[in-house]
Amino acid sequence: MTRQRMWRAMLVFALAVFALSGCSGHPSMDALQPKGTAGEIQLDLIKWSFIMMLGVFTVVITIFVYVLIRFRKRKGKDIMPEQVHGNNWLELAWTVIPIILLAILAVPTVKYTFQLSDTKPGPDTLEVKVTGHQYWWEFEYPELGIKTAQELYIPVNTKVHLEIEGRDVLHSFWVPALGGKTDVIPGRTNTMWLDAKKPGPYQGKCAELCGAGHALMDFKVVAQTEDDFDKWVAQMKNPPQPITTSAQKEGEEIFRQNCIGCHAGANAKILGPDLSKFGTRDTIAGILPHNKESLKQWLKNPEAVKPGAKMPKIDYLEDKELDALMDYLMSRK
Ligand code: CUA
Repeated sequence: MTRQRMWRAMLVFALAVFALSGCSGHPSMDALQPKGTAGEIQLDLIKWSFIMMLGVFTVVITIFVYVLIRFRKRKGKDIMPEQVHGNNWLELAWTVIPIILLAILAVPTVKYTFQLSDTKPGPDTLEVKVTGHQYWWEFEYPELGIKTAQELYIPVNTKVHLEIEGRDVLHSFWVPALGGKTDVIPGRTNTMWLDAKKPGPYQGKCAELCGAGHALMDFKVVAQTEDDFDKWVAQMKNPPQPITTSAQKEGEEIFRQNCIGCHAGANAKILGPDLSKFGTRDTIAGILPHNKESLKQWLKNPEAVKPGAKMPKIDYLEDKELDALMDYLMSRK
């Protein structure tokens, strides 16, 4: 290898490392390193089909390379393979072998299909209703009387049943490290279950092209220890914290005049997320860090943050009013 070529190769390698390292640092979203039972089952199926595929690939490629070398054109002496047509044994072999392979693959597939579709409610399961909206996720815990958005809190080592429905167009609910995907369809309820064996945030994604904001329709599954989850439930069920400052009071009034039509909370038909516990969230709009700077960015121009979002621009408030509104929202815990 010449020196120039070597440098070029090293540059490509360095660029690849740089580009691919962008994939880490996020909460886990690796389907090949599952952190829950459903994910493990699905990885097992991937392994089964991959190993069989590898076997078929190896045999086919070996024969292919052998024929390529054995019967290649050579000066003077061409070897013509014997020309056959309708060899019964060969025909039988390549009909029967795939049938056997599929039959073998059917065993784990059928077993796991029944296991994964078992979403009968039980005393130890947690029920959650998931609704996909353009471009955010609503999570409702009917047994607990909690409604939230963008972050699905679950206790570890608990089977969580999800009833998944769409409000507008097709979406797809996908948490790679815990299992999925499940289609989100308006007017139809699909079910799935998942669990997490370790606490942690797990990144979720919408996996069905649903419009301009599709790639930004993120959410998180936050798995917590039993104790932490109970604390979270208690906090969500507590009445909202009282208004303490005059800015929050002003903000509440601005919220009432400008926002409540869509963010009306648990009782109305929801157009936007319930914000009654907004101060406890992890993200703004599911993608920005949860601070006032991001909130301002989102309020002033939602379209720039998440194209196609139905949230209107709140760019007509004076700075002082906007600050008051943000004070109020951040105090909702
Ligand atoms: Cu929702 Cu893509």
